[in-house]
Order: sequence, then C-alpha cells, then structure tokens
Amino acid sequence: MTPEMAPQIEKGQIVEIDGYKIEVLLTEPEIDKRIVELADQIDSDYLGKKLKVIMILKGASSFGEDLIRELGKGNSAIDRKPRDIEIDYKGTTSYGSKTTTSGEVKDTISMDSSIKDEDVLVVEDILDTGKTLLHVVNKMSEEEPKSLNVCVLLDKKERRIVNINAKYVGFDIQNVFVVGRGLDYKQKFRNLRFVGILLNPDKEEKIN
Ligand code: XMP
Ligand code: MG
Repeated sequence: MTPEMAPQIEKGQIVEIDGYKIEVLLTEPEIDKRIVELADQIDSDYLGKKLKVIMILKGASSFGEDLIRELGKGNSAIDRKPRDIEIDYKGTTSYGSKTTTSGEVKDTISMDSSIKDEDVLVVEDILDTGKTLLHVVNKMSEEEPKSLNVCVLLDKKERRIVNINAKYVGFDIQNVFVVGRGLDYKQKFRNLRFVGILLNPDKEEKIN
C-alpha cells in the first residue's frame, strides 16, 4: 500500500490495539501543525540566542524530537537561519503502571551537561498535577540557568495541584487518560502518532 492509500485515522474514531480501545482525541496532522506553530513561537522568542533543550524522558522524547526538527526551519519567516541548539535528557518517573499519578517523583536519568548561564527550554509530554515539572524546574533552577521555560504537548489544567505553568502549550485537554505521541500505558502506545483516550485500561481484569 502506498502512503497515499493508507487509511486516515479520524478524530473520534476508536482504534483497537491488543484488546485496548483508544478513542482518537488529536489526529497526527493536527498535532504536527501545532508543533510547527510552537516551533515558530519559540524561534521568535529566542531569536539570536543559543537554546538548550532538555527533554524529560521517557514521555517527551517523541514530541521533543518532533519539536527540535521544526526549530530554525524558518516556517514563520522570522528566523530563517538554522538554530544553535544543544539537547540533553533528564529522566523522571512518577506514574508506575497505573493511570493515576503516585505523586512521588523519582529521578531515573541525570543530565550529563551543565545548564549554568544557559537559556533552557524544558520539554515534557504532559502537565498533569504539575508535581513532575515542579520537581524538575526546582532542581534545575539551583544550577542557575540564564532563563528557564517549559514547553508541553498537553496540559490538563484542571488537575493541577501545585503552582506551575508552561509557557508553551500544544493543547489543553480535559481530565482523561491519554496515550500516544510519547505517552504510555504500561510502556505501550508511545509510538502512536495520534493522541487518544484509553477507554479500557482495566481490560485484563475484566477478561480474567
Ligand atoms: P504530573 O502529575 O507530575 O504528571 O504533572 C506528569 C507525568 O504524569 C504522566 N501522565 C500521563 N501519562 N497519560 C499518560 O500516559 C496521561 O494522561 C498522563 N497524565 C500524566 C506523564 O508521564 C507526565 O510526565
Ligand atoms: Mg513523563
């Protein structure tokens, strides 16, 4: 099948993978378009500056790579020059394998470069209660970066319990558990190009 013939995955469609039902909330083209817009905004805000992009693993690796690919492309005609960007990764975990956060944030991988005096952009998949990003931002602030801003693909604002906000937000979403574009359930579905609501996380319990 040629790529042109591949069936389009529509918003609202229910896709079944390994017995899990996932309702498409954001389609691939919709997400790609929004990432270009975010990259344009970041390019114009950091015009002429070197940018240090820190991706929070594992969830942000997919969105983060898509975002840095668009940075400096000149989509906005504001900054047509390739950008001076450095990347690093930081690993955290808080969810375990459930669909509600444990609230306890653990560092799993540390950065191997310094952010002192750097303009830092922290990239994360989703802002939920805010505990993960608050933990990350507080720790990074101790290293005295020149500036520190946050970019997330998704923001569940109504779930916030600590005081943190992202400067760059792809999409505001309701309080639903989503997978795809880096977001997982028990490490599955990170590869999906759409973002969808996991309708039956307890499917195994029902079968047994
Ligand atoms: P907090 O509550 O610390 O949570 O802001 C952020 C982290 O929790 C994960 N998370 C999700 N993962 N679907 C997921 O697959 C979701 O709907 C969801 N909500 C929160 C995510 O790892 C994020 O980094
Ligand atoms: Mg995460």
